[in-house]
Parts: sequence; structure tokens; C-alpha cells
Amino acid sequence: MKDFHDLADYSVAEIQALLDLAARLQHNPEPRALEGKILALLFMSPSLRTLASFQAAMSRLGGGAFVISPNMSIHGIETRPGIVMDGMAAEHIREAVPVIASYADAIGIRAFAERRNLDDDLADLEYNAMRDLVEIPLINMESAIQHPCQSLADWKTLDDIGMPKNGGRFVLSWASHPNPLPLAVPATTVKMAAMRGMDVTVLRPEGFELPDAIMQQARDLAAASGGSVRETTDRDDAMNGAQVIYAKSWSSTRHYGDKKADGDLRRQHEDWCVDEPWFANAADDCRFMHCLPVRRGIVVADRILDGPRSVVIQEAQNRMFAQMAVLHAMLA
Ligand code: CP
Repeated sequence: MKDFHDLADYSVAEIQALLDLAARLQHNPEPRALEGKILALLFMSPSLRTLASFQAAMSRLGGGAFVISPNMSIHGIETRPGIVMDGMAAEHIREAVPVIASYADAIGIRAFAERRNLDDDLADLEYNAMRDLVEIPLINMESAIQHPCQSLADWKTLDDIGMPKNGGRFVLSWASHPNPLPLAVPATTVKMAAMRGMDVTVLRPEGFELPDAIMQQARDLAAASGGSVRETTDRDDAMNGAQVIYAKSWSSTRHYGDKKADGDLRRQHEDWCVDEPWFANAADDCRFMHCLPVRRGIVVADRILDGPRSVVIQEAQNRMFAQMAVLHAMLA
């Protein structure tokens, strides 16, 4: 494996092999598998889980990792092509990325969406500019439109809790949030559940449709796996018989890049906070998923997050096992 960027780059059989490897490493540790190997972690955007789980994954496999972030004591990194660098940043990705990569056997890069122009973010412009500068194995740690490590971990969590593949009823729901958030997690999640062969419903208010290109890709993946993908604004319809609800807020695609118009629209939907009444006609043991971090009392009620429906801690722990499998496949 040279490049872990988009789950859809891999067949279901290849993902299953990664998940089998993740389970093997979880139960039968290989503390010397990556002895002498170094992973570089470039965080252009903040993190808790990704940062900690990649470092832990490398340590558990006997390798090492180092972290570079513009928030650290470095010179500030410019990403724009062709820029005259007369501002604060003294370093450009064109030098910084190859230099960082030259110290390592593999590199992970995180660069969130700029959220100014939807087409630019769908094309993953900033991440791909850095991807072009890397010749060693590369892991996408969340870009404008991809978060494959989260989705691999979520697929494992669904397996771990015994969620049916074909026929499993999966709801990806928009949720309230004070800020316009990136599309990476919902875009990757709808594709993951579709590839897993689930019957997927995207539940969201008007104005928060996922981009057509993402929905079409998810429908194509579902067709190949025996699943289905639909979308609705009707919560009762979406939750009818649901076995899992995956909550996430994202930017208004109708007002993408327009913070005021997005804010005006999202304020009309502050009641989209997942709580027990949402589960009235769901399966009795319907589970709650979220990638974290999550705003309590805004995205989801405490009683859901702290109750038996929630598998959010398992999801976060599975980040480490899923990434151990990716690193093992790349470097062992
Ligand atoms: N879910 C996730 O990627 O968490 P972090 O942003 O904390 O890494």
C-alpha cells in the first residue's frame, strides 16, 4: 500500500483484509513489526484522536513518529502556489513537505477544507498540492473531502457491534452546530456505509444536501455492494427501523463559503440535537455514532452520549487499530 487517501480506492475485499489485520493486531500484538521505521505526521489542522492514535499505533508496532504543526515552534507554513511570501509564513509547503518526508518512511498529512469554494474543496486542492510533493507512502489524516482513517475505524466498529452488512439500516444525520464544519466526515461516512452494503439514509434539512458528486458516488458504491442510498428531510421516515444513527454537522452546501447565510440557515435548525425522542420508531438497540469531537447539548444530548446507545469511545479506540493495520500494510 502506497497511498491511503480514499476508502473507495480499495475493493471491499481489500478493506476486509485491512479489517482482518486490524483485528489480528488488536488481539495478537506485533511490538517489533515496524522496528526502525519512522512516521512523519504533518498537522496543518488541529486534532486530538488522529494525533494521539497515530503516535500510539507506531509505538505499539515498534516504530517511532514525529509531529509537525504550524502551531508549534516552526516558521509558519504557506500553502498558496505562486505567492510572494511577504507575510508571516517563512516556509512554503514546496520545501517543507519534501524535507519532512525525507526524515521518514511514511507520512500522514491533515489539511482541513478551506470552506471558501465547494468545487475547490471537492477537488481537495490543498491536500493534493502536498500529495504531489510526497514520494514515500502517504496517509490522508483528513483533507477537505476525505477522512479514510475515520471510516475504516467506523467500519470496524460496526463489525465489532454486530451490525448487519447487507440490509443494516444506517442513518447519517446532520446535527446542529454553531459553526460551518467541513464535509470530509459525512462524505466519507456515506461512502463507507454504502460500500459496506448497508441501506443508507442521509437525513438533513433543506440547504444541507451533500454534494451531488458524493451522493452519486455513494449510490454507485451501494449498487456494487447490494446496499442503497437515499436522502430525506423527514426524521420519522429516516429513523423508522434505523439500527444506527451517525450524527455529524456540516456546512450548508447551498451557502458554501458564505458564513452569514450559512449561520442564518443553521440557526433555524438548532433543534437538530439527537435525543431519545429521535429513537421512537428506531430499532430498540439502535446505536449512536459520532467521530468526535462532539458538542454536548448541541449535537447530541448527554443521556444519549453517556447511555448504552453510544459507541463513540469504541470508534475512537478503533482509530488506533485501523491505523495500525494501514501502517503495517504500508511498512512491515
Ligand atoms: N475524529 C477525529 O479525526 O478526531 P480529531 O480531529 O481529534 O483527530
